[in-house]
Amino acid sequence: MKLVFASSNKNKIAEIKAMLPSGIEVVGLEEIGCFEEIPETADTIAGNAKLKADYVTRHFGYDCFSDDSGLEVDALDGAPGVYSARYAGAAKDSDANMDKLLAELHGNENRGAQFKTVIALNLNGEQHLFEGIARGTIAEAKQGNQGFGYDPVFVPEGKTLTFAQIPMQEKAAMSHRGIAFSKLVAHLKK
Ligand code: IMP
Repeated sequence: MKLVFASSNKNKIAEIKAMLPSGIEVVGLEEIGCFEEIPETADTIAGNAKLKADYVTRHFGYDCFSDDSGLEVDALDGAPGVYSARYAGAAKDSDANMDKLLAELHGNENRGAQFKTVIALNLNGEQHLFEGIARGTIAEAKQGNQGFGYDPVFVPEGKTLTFAQIPMQEKAAMSHRGIAFSKLVAHLKK
């Protein structure tokens, strides 16, 4: 079985390849000659995941899956959510995004939040969605320097360290993306 992962992120492609049984070949966008930026114009995380998978199936004819993620903060009614990468502007600057988030929550005791990933899989003419959620809290200040995005301000449930202070393998096992990927892999193994 050959499946396209609608991503150009080499780390994500390697991560999912390592989880899949032999017999399922995963290729990234570059390997099918797709170098264009796929529009992410939906207003939900699931909507963007579907857009990306549908784009590849429609334009290139392959069975395909795609992922989209975001941080949903309880006290901000789920913001920044689908706009997580661009929260502080089009530059997609992680430090600016975290500074804006910490300023919005300043003095607020409600620090609950969750990371969410939705994977959309187009397989044999059907679409399946897989969701992964990692609950936690937003720290008062940035801590740690591993990972990316909002990792330095996100403390996963049951831990006292931020995602940016937790080794990558450990984060992958408990993260929203890891959970959603595991559900995808379990489905493909069936
Ligand atoms: P993407 O859909 O995986 O590109 O994620 C969109 C945005 O959500 C990223 O640019 C980050 O700002 C944020 N994000 C998603 N996953 C993570 C994570 O594991 N750690 C920190 N930030 C994340």
